[in-house]
Amino acid sequence: MGLGKQKDLWYGGKNNPVLTPAPYLLNLIPIMIGKKKILITRNYPAAGMDLLKKEPFQLTFWEKERPMTPDELAAQAENHDALLCTLTDRIDKPFLDRCSHLEIISQFAVGYDNIDIPEATHKKIPVGFTPDAMSEATADIAFGLMIATARKFFFLHKTILNKEWGYFNPTSHLGFEPKHKTLGVFGLGRIGVKMAERCKAAYDMTILYHNRTRNALAEKQLGARYVSFDRLLEESDILSVHCALTPETRQIFDARAFRKMKPSAVFINTARGPIHHEPDLIEALQHKELWGAGLDVTDPEPMAPDNPLLSMENVCVLPHAGSGTMEARDRMSVLAAENIIMFYKTGRVSHIVNPEVLTG
Ligand code: DGY
Repeated sequence: MGLGKQKDLWYGGKNNPVLTPAPYLLNLIPIMIGKKKILITRNYPAAGMDLLKKEPFQLTFWEKERPMTPDELAAQAENHDALLCTLTDRIDKPFLDRCSHLEIISQFAVGYDNIDIPEATHKKIPVGFTPDAMSEATADIAFGLMIATARKFFFLHKTILNKEWGYFNPTSHLGFEPKHKTLGVFGLGRIGVKMAERCKAAYDMTILYHNRTRNALAEKQLGARYVSFDRLLEESDILSVHCALTPETRQIFDARAFRKMKPSAVFINTARGPIHHEPDLIEALQHKELWGAGLDVTDPEPMAPDNPLLSMENVCVLPHAGSGTMEARDRMSVLAAENIIMFYKTGRVSHIVNPEVLTG
């Protein structure tokens, strides 16, 4: 049983809502931590791994470049108390049935669609994650993709590689300027706001958004206007996706949605590939229902090198690199490690997906 599940050993102090160990337990903590075996599924940045190494945990690092297969992951996790994993690890019901003894799962990512959260919650396993660590980095990628697509960076680069850099041509391969255009944000949360801030500051763009709940702060600070999903589709010049992948958002950008968009619009997705229906996106671009697309996420990942999107003039694709800065990956590593350390020291997890497991 996880320490977080043994609530009688922990108390909040007199006026202290924070759970702290009962005093008589303090000198036992190293021994308790010492018993804990943590499985670390990838080569995560040292910033967080060094924190784990300072604690008396027993750490197992998966040292191969490739992720573990589902069988390898379950076989390893069976002999561990905690798991530090990421989006390439499938934490589904069969895995959780086999590893229901896990005391904490700490995800190195803000997204956690690779984890069956209801099942983890049902099994009373807390799931930590790393929100906000990569908001700036991912917004930079979305903003970069907007410009790269509007100006055909990747296509033009390929013309040089293909020895097609000929004479200056005043009318060929022209892009467009984002200044004063309308940005539509689907999912105006932490990353969506950062993207909107960039577009507002750089190009004085009008900001529209669609969310499950209104973002009053962004409405006030950025003048962002809440609209229905259909209006977002109809009015956006750039439509940038920043929501989580959920049953509701899976393939919400399909043929119907693309048909509603302006033929001059650019679709940007830096969230999760399955939020758009890739064959429908390809068709919309081929039929010029959309002007272009900038994608940091695809479905499936990795994308096949012969995918038609890769040879389209107005499409820029990146290999899921949104959080790929040294700063962001270090922060993610620290948060993922801290979630585990805090759990074993205090019974709490500062960034948790399913808090009801610890409070219920
Ligand atoms: C996330 O954090 O969810 C990104 O997609 C990967 O870093």
